[in-house]
Amino acid sequence: MSSIKRYVLVVLLGLIGWQTLVFTGTFYYAEYNGLVQEAKRRQMETLEKLRSVCQESSMRTSPFAAINYVSILAKESGVAHALCSDFNGRILAHTDPDRIGAYLERDSPVLAALKTETRLYTKDRVVLEAFTPVMVQGRRAGVVSVGFDADSLDRQISGSLWRMMTRLLVVSALALAVVVLTALAVANRLTEPIAELARGARAIAAGRLDNTVPVAEDRNDELGFLVREFNRMAQRLRELDRLKERFLASVTHDLRAPLVGIQGHTELLMNDSLSEEQSKHVETIYYSAQHLSRFINDILDLSRLEARAIVLNRVKLNMRETVDNMVELMQVKADEYKVKLETKVSPDLPAAYADPKWVPRVLMNLVSNALKFTPEGGTVTILVSPDRATEEPQIRIEVRDTGPGIPKEKLEYVFEKFTQVEETRNAARSEGTGLGLAIAREAIQAHGGRIWAESEAGEGTRFFFTLPIA
Ligand SMILES: Nc1ncnc2c1ncn2[C@@H]1O[C@H](COP(=O)(O)OP(=O)(O)O)[C@@H](O)[C@H]1O
Ligand SMILES: [Mg+2]
Repeated sequence: MSSIKRYVLVVLLGLIGWQTLVFTGTFYYAEYNGLVQEAKRRQMETLEKLRSVCQESSMRTSPFAAINYVSILAKESGVAHALCSDFNGRILAHTDPDRIGAYLERDSPVLAALKTETRLYTKDRVVLEAFTPVMVQGRRAGVVSVGFDADSLDRQISGSLWRMMTRLLVVSALALAVVVLTALAVANRLTEPIAELARGARAIAAGRLDNTVPVAEDRNDELGFLVREFNRMAQRLRELDRLKERFLASVTHDLRAPLVGIQGHTELLMNDSLSEEQSKHVETIYYSAQHLSRFINDILDLSRLEARAIVLNRVKLNMRETVDNMVELMQVKADEYKVKLETKVSPDLPAAYADPKWVPRVLMNLVSNALKFTPEGGTVTILVSPDRATEEPQIRIEVRDTGPGIPKEKLEYVFEKFTQVEETRNAARSEGTGLGLAIAREAIQAHGGRIWAESEAGEGTRFFFTLPIA
């Protein structure tokens, strides 16, 4: 997961978590208060009812109504005890029938209520006991008291709270799920174009200028704007690149005609009888012109390959012969450099399906690079074998040397045109132009093959390419 996505998720989850905590806390407190209030209302109702029944009993001087009502109260779960007494503290009705007719103790708090108003005994705001005087014609005629069962009240309140909390939890979990999904969608909307931009930038850095970053037409935020600007920039780069290619191609083309003239006439001069001094000068002109001509041909070939303007002439190509011919040609150079040139060709090698003009050229490039960089006493090996590991069977050609190697981070760039590795410049026996590998890559890719390099610093370099089997 990208770090922006993670960041958005963490922030949103943190906010939601905090919000849920505050919300649940507040709700819990309010709900607890509400439940206590509700319980108290019901308790006061019970007390009031008992008082009016007792009042009636006092007026009629018959306790039966009171006894009756108290016995009903005795069956109610929240009530621990209830009583009704007369002015002298004689108990008229009691939830415990044995106490009817008995007198309240002198120091009973119930008696104290005879002289006061309604009194409540509470614990944690829950009413545990309530007393109130019974009035008859404006005089205090007795007192009623109801004791409540704290455990039963607790159970009721916590039961209600629990039910409420589970409901809240379920709703919170649902909300959380919705938030996570929304957050992911939002984060995606933010990070997708950024990731696309990064991919696009990487493609351009790797030289793939034909890359555009997709963006929705109707995306009008800053990111949409950024992506469109990026695409415009890539488009401009493409135009410049094409301009450069055309310029290069036309300049090199125009250079070729006069160069042919120089070469032809130098050759004529060489046939004349010249002094030794003059001969040397003419020879220098001749080789310089040859070098320039090779360079121009390379550029022209490369631009034609890049423009896909070259038609391959593919035939069944015997790779053993191709390699042997190459070695014969390069042996002189190898001897001159005192480098061993070896070949290892698999005995059961099938023919390649390739152009007999381009394959030797690629091979020549790789081998001459290898010879150029391998120090005296080193070895350059050409290995050719069928490669059946891939989906389509191929032939794999490897050119291995014991030279200075190529730094890992430069490996993918050596195939770019005009690229030379600075670190090993001194190790090279001759100055190149940086076009050989670019041409090799284009030619091999035109064949549907792959070309790559592997190297460890100080361990030499291995160049590989593949060709389809005929
Ligand atoms: N066998 C090798 N060992 C070390 N470096 C190599 C080797 N082959 C190629 N290179 C590096 O890759 C660069 C590009 O090679 P190439 O395209 O053939 O251009 P050139 O040979 O004209 O310099 C070389 O300049 C060199 O820095
Ligand atoms: Mg080269």
